[in-house]
Amino acid sequence: MKRILCVVGARPNFMKIAPIMKAMASYEGIKALLVHTGQHYDNAMNHQFFVELGIPEPDVNLEVGSGSHAIQTAEIMKRFEPVVDNENPDAILVVGDVNSTIACALVASKKGIPIVHVEAGLRSFDRTMPEEINRVLTDQISDLLFTTERVAENNLLREGIAGERIHFVGNVMIDTLHHNLPRAVSPKDTFSDEHFSSKPYAALTLHRPSNVDDKDTLTSLLETIREISKKINVVFPVHPRTKGKIDHFGLNHLLENPRLLVLPPLGYLEMLGLMRDAKLFLTDSGGIQEETTALGVPCITLRNNTERRITIDEGTNTLAGQDREKILSLFSDIMETGGKTGKIPEFWDGKASLRIVEIMGNWLQAGK
Ligand code: UD1
Repeated sequence: MKRILCVVGARPNFMKIAPIMKAMASYEGIKALLVHTGQHYDNAMNHQFFVELGIPEPDVNLEVGSGSHAIQTAEIMKRFEPVVDNENPDAILVVGDVNSTIACALVASKKGIPIVHVEAGLRSFDRTMPEEINRVLTDQISDLLFTTERVAENNLLREGIAGERIHFVGNVMIDTLHHNLPRAVSPKDTFSDEHFSSKPYAALTLHRPSNVDDKDTLTSLLETIREISKKINVVFPVHPRTKGKIDHFGLNHLLENPRLLVLPPLGYLEMLGLMRDAKLFLTDSGGIQEETTALGVPCITLRNNTERRITIDEGTNTLAGQDREKILSLFSDIMETGGKTGKIPEFWDGKASLRIVEIMGNWLQAGK
């Protein structure tokens, strides 16, 4: 029996690990252990997802919590090393691009433990983005790399990664979406507010440091949302980082608007219902760009670049950056024409985790 140490830390990891843990549980020859770094710890950012997505209780929780990037990454490494020593796994598996991903991969790499990276090869080509550093470095030290879109393979080959390590398998987050869509919570139940539940709405999320850590940028974005709310109701579940910044910069008055519904972070099933029924989504999240493409909902991405190229080329996504005029013009276009309809990208079919586990099983049998 081969033993794999799977790692999660932050909210977007949970939707990715859920179908992988499930596929491993029914695959003979692999035993998966789950390590939670504790990067996200609030109930709304963490525990609720485990319950809703049926992720098994972590075997180990490192309980690192928040900190600067250096402190958080270093603390994860320090606490992950004895777990690796203790468990001596045949490989570790990391997903996505958060600090937990690179921290644990780095520990394993120094110990000669093979690394599997799920969602490899995505590139925004923007090194001011902390996740871009995490992606590039994790891929460099990974032994088996699973990609969600074809362009990712070219990115990896260009960075000198051997082609035989790379496997295009599709998108595990879309496995989770397919599996849970029938259970999605209707927005009518999420916002009991009659005024909101009976009308079309736009949904909004914001949490990237480049959007929320600078007072002028955040002010301008919230003012643009106020403009949009004159035409359509807006529902805004607020990430804790963003809430902290709004309080800190004294911007709460920009949220006092009867056509803007401010909510705490939502669980997965509520978020899925919110996305499914939205007229459009405005976001800086990576995952929501992909989920809206899978659901056929137009998405305006409040960033100047994206690592998820296929959502632009084939999906419903358009980049708007932070520019007020551009955001408003894309918004008007969606209101008038319905926006991009897009198509479902190749292999975003709900079976990515099955492909991953099959390939991993053979790879482990072959002795890596
Ligand atoms: C992290 C990821 C980002 C991902 C996002 C999804 C990195 C570099 N960033 O960003 O890629 O898109 O998660 O949410 O790994 N906080 C709480 N409760 C929590 C977690 C965080 O209050 O459970 C607050 C703390 O004030 C913390 C801040 O949010 O300092 C930021 O958390 P952190 O994990 O550093 O980064 P995120 O912005 O969540």
